[in-house]
Amino acid sequence: MSGAVDLTTKLGPLTLANPVMVASGTYGYGLEYENMVAIERIGAICVKGISLLPRVGNPPPRVCETPAGMLNAIGLANIGYDAFVNDAMPKLRARDATVIVNTYGTSLEEFAELARRFDKIEGVAGLEINISCPNVKSGGMHFGMVPESAAEVTRSVRNETDLPVIVKLSPEAADLKAVAAAVKDAGADAVSLINTIRGMSIDINTRKPRLGNVMGGLSGPAIRAVAVRMVFEVHRALPDLPIIGIGGISDLPSALEFFLAGASAVQVGTANFANPRAATDLIDTLSTYCEEKHLIPADLVGKVILE
Ligand SMILES: Cc1cc2nc3c(=O)[nH]c(=O)nc-3n(C[C@H](O)[C@H](O)[C@H](O)COP(=O)(O)O)c2cc1C
Repeated sequence: MSGAVDLTTKLGPLTLANPVMVASGTYGYGLEYENMVAIERIGAICVKGISLLPRVGNPPPRVCETPAGMLNAIGLANIGYDAFVNDAMPKLRARDATVIVNTYGTSLEEFAELARRFDKIEGVAGLEINISCPNVKSGGMHFGMVPESAAEVTRSVRNETDLPVIVKLSPEAADLKAVAAAVKDAGADAVSLINTIRGMSIDINTRKPRLGNVMGGLSGPAIRAVAVRMVFEVHRALPDLPIIGIGGISDLPSALEFFLAGASAVQVGTANFANPRAATDLIDTLSTYCEEKHLIPADLVGKVILE
């Protein structure tokens, strides 16, 4: 158990008990794990992307394994705003879980409406705006490709809420630094990166794509080096913008890489499927590491040595 070291982490206006979160879409609504994990210890649970109305998502198969990772094309299947707020939120509040709501809209109005509604919901610590999902036809990654539309979404959300706003960036943007700068100017308190990278896998026996959606998002250790590079680049360009690093983080060494590259916090994603306690294990190992080294995670942020 952690305890001796203060892992309190500040991301702009958002203060978390520790810098270890679980990534949206890899931990359900948090409640799926409540009987086996002390979910209230997790720095923040980024819940599965919530849309105004429930969504059934893409046709199966929706996930498949790849070397050192997985492909998914869930298509943002989710229970929708009403069921989340009425059924899941009360239970998350009762568990004292720290909840960041990941939102998905097909239009600026939908993003704004979700922000307006969540602003009033007790127990929501912040919003993570998904402008980077590769698996849906409208909205999703489309908004995150260029600075202008990324800024528009951010502004439409910012205008509706005082909650901390995190914008989740796509690794597929042609100029990620420009997108990060644009969302910062539009009022984002922090950015999270990266979302998945589009990939494809083919069953050589049936000669068919292994995903019903043909293509999907690649995640896991396979994308870690790409994500570290992107965190590094965004941090160098915008040192004052808090970054939440995501991509193949499963343990202490992988998390430390992200801190050194410039992340102030990290999210554990695909690793949760193999080990539902990956995040709480990481909190423990990070705490021990900080105690042994006499430091706090913030001391490591961006401290990669280049010369
Ligand atoms: C099955 C699955 C579902 C996901 N759903 C969402 C989602 O709803 N919203 C979102 O912003 N990201 C979603 N993601 C992306 C993850 O949050 C994360 O950015 C990505 O998987 C990279 O991290 P990882 O390599 O640690 O998994 C999903 C990822 C997976 C594997």
